[in-house]
Amino acid sequence: MDLITISDPRSPVSEAYRTLRTNLSFYSLDNPLRSLVVTSPAPNEGKSTTIANLAVTIAQSGRRTILVDCDLRRPSLHELFGLKAEPGFTDLVLADEMALPLQPTGVDNLWLLASGAKPPNPADLLGAKKVDQIIARLQEEADMVLFDAPPVMAVTDAAVLGAKVDGVLLVIQAGKTKRDHAERAKETLEKAKVRIVGVTLTNAPKDKAMSGYY
Ligand SMILES: Nc1ncnc2c1ncn2[C@@H]1O[C@H](COP(=O)(O)OP(=O)(O)OP(=O)(O)O)[C@@H](O)[C@H]1O
Ligand SMILES: [Mg+2]
Repeated sequence: MDLITISDPRSPVSEAYRTLRTNLSFYSLDNPLRSLVVTSPAPNEGKSTTIANLAVTIAQSGRRTILVDCDLRRPSLHELFGLKAEPGFTDLVLADEMALPLQPTGVDNLWLLASGAKPPNPADLLGAKKVDQIIARLQEEADMVLFDAPPVMAVTDAAVLGAKVDGVLLVIQAGKTKRDHAERAKETLEKAKVRIVGVTLTNAPKDKAMSGYY
């Protein structure tokens, strides 16, 4: 497992993930976020890495956390934790009565709900009424439920799922994400009535003045 929040929790990068955790917890004090979709404008901008490290830091703060792989097209969270892709989310949507196939991650308070069997129609599946029930069931088991999703500009999955949860966090990668892609992603999500709770910039150049300060 090469998640930095596990392998090097004292590094500045891990500290940055804790800052992200803190900022999210301050987002709405009266009505704390309990379910969050993480997405980005285009592929390969660091969604899965960001959500996995964020989930680890939330779990490390003692909150029961479930990470759900809803990137049904390119699932990868199971690989990050060395776990199985199936059974998982899609199996729950299709089966009538099924126990939640949560896999322990090895991190206290953190479980993975993997993607499950590959469906032919991910966006339709994510839009199903049944998904609302699954989100409610996950919410009973955890303080925070985090959903990985495909990129906004490629397919509608993230917007469809985003409308069912408390908020969406947009991942932007310095030097990679194009400005107009970020704007288009924001517009697409807003049109779908999704609440964008923030944007995180990954791969930002190091600020030499601050490193080593603490
Ligand atoms: N902050 C970062 N700085 C540099 N490289 C990164 C960063 N975050 C992720 N990467 C690398 O970029 C690649 C893509 O990361 P990741 O799988 O998290 O992106 P993704 O947006 O989930 O991709 P996909 O669209 O395939 O789901 C990986 O090789 C990962 O190690
Ligand atoms: Mg990914």
